[in-house]
Amino acid sequence: MADQAFVTLATNDSYAKGAMVLAKSLRSHNTSRKLVALVGPHVSDSFRNVLSKLYDEVRLVDVLDSGDSAHLALMKRPDLGVTLTKLHCWTLTHYSKCVFMDADTLVLSNVDELFEREELSAAPDPGWPDCFNSGVFVFIPSSETYGRLLQFCSETGSFDGGDQGLLNSFFSSWATADISKHLPFIYNLSSIAIYSYLPAFKQFGGDAKVVHFLGKMKPWNYSYDPETKRVQGDSSEHESVHPHYLLKWWDIFSTSVEPLLKEQFGDQPFDSGSHHDVDRIQEAVSRVHVAEPPPMPEMSSQERKQKWEQGQADYMGMDSFENIKKKLDSFLK
Ligand code: UDP
Ligand code: GLC
Ligand code: MN
Repeated sequence: MADQAFVTLATNDSYAKGAMVLAKSLRSHNTSRKLVALVGPHVSDSFRNVLSKLYDEVRLVDVLDSGDSAHLALMKRPDLGVTLTKLHCWTLTHYSKCVFMDADTLVLSNVDELFEREELSAAPDPGWPDCFNSGVFVFIPSSETYGRLLQFCSETGSFDGGDQGLLNSFFSSWATADISKHLPFIYNLSSIAIYSYLPAFKQFGGDAKVVHFLGKMKPWNYSYDPETKRVQGDSSEHESVHPHYLLKWWDIFSTSVEPLLKEQFGDQPFDSGSHHDVDRIQEAVSRVHVAEPPPMPEMSSQERKQKWEQGQADYMGMDSFENIKKKLDSFLK
């Protein structure tokens, strides 16, 4: 099985922490496959060194960025343009088959059976289940597919500004063509789904094999007290992540990853790396231009009347007080 691998991506030191916990979780459940981390040039040398203790291969890749501020702003995630860097995973052609896993995923049991699936297999996205979530997917590395993906990206773009929009448009038959390419949800259980369908989580959650900390708040954004084994964070964000899985992530981090980082950094604080992230997010936010609202299509007076009657007057535009006054004035002249 040396020609099959789990692959992840980290473009900065924070996501690299996630990648470290992911590797530990895969190894502790005795995977027989290789582990590959794709890293961007912003990952510091020290973090790269630690990654290479946990991964069979750490490969430096260029950051591909959609810079698509309008779509990314819709998702409220200006930072996700860089996720197009994921596409590099198709260039790992020395493997015959791979499973990509986001750096914010955590494995709860052995998932090597995923390699029995074909390209492109993935679980439904909890927000729009006719799309797959690109946090966990089975794929076949191929220079040809990689080239086609880049071509497609430059012609069509991505409807969410990140890899998931692009991959869903590219592998567009996923929703309908072959049910065996639908991974069960337990291979990509996102914390969001726990709250949106709690009874199902109570019924099936015990079988979860992979947890995905999808959303803005990631495990490494919380602080953890190893003495009391408690996690602290912004309480408003707290409920987006299930406390049990969050503790599990932190337990692996503090017992198996932190010692490696401490060994690497000696007396120096290794958290300084995360400041890069703040800079990068701010940089990304500053790129987001608030787009002008698109011009309203011309409406006939009949349509406008209907809108009025349905209580949908355009108070800020056509039906503003100013415009109504003008109209009345013209009648009175
Ligand atoms: N990622 C990264 N750097 C970033 C943002 C994302 O390396 O600045 C990678 C990382 O592997 C991450 C994946 O892209 O897990 C997808 O992003 P994220 O998990 O934040 O998206 P979500 O699952 O929350 O939608
Ligand atoms: C998603 C996926 C993530 C992907 C992002 C951008 O919500 O969980 O893996 O990178 O969208 O498309
Ligand atoms: Mn993710």
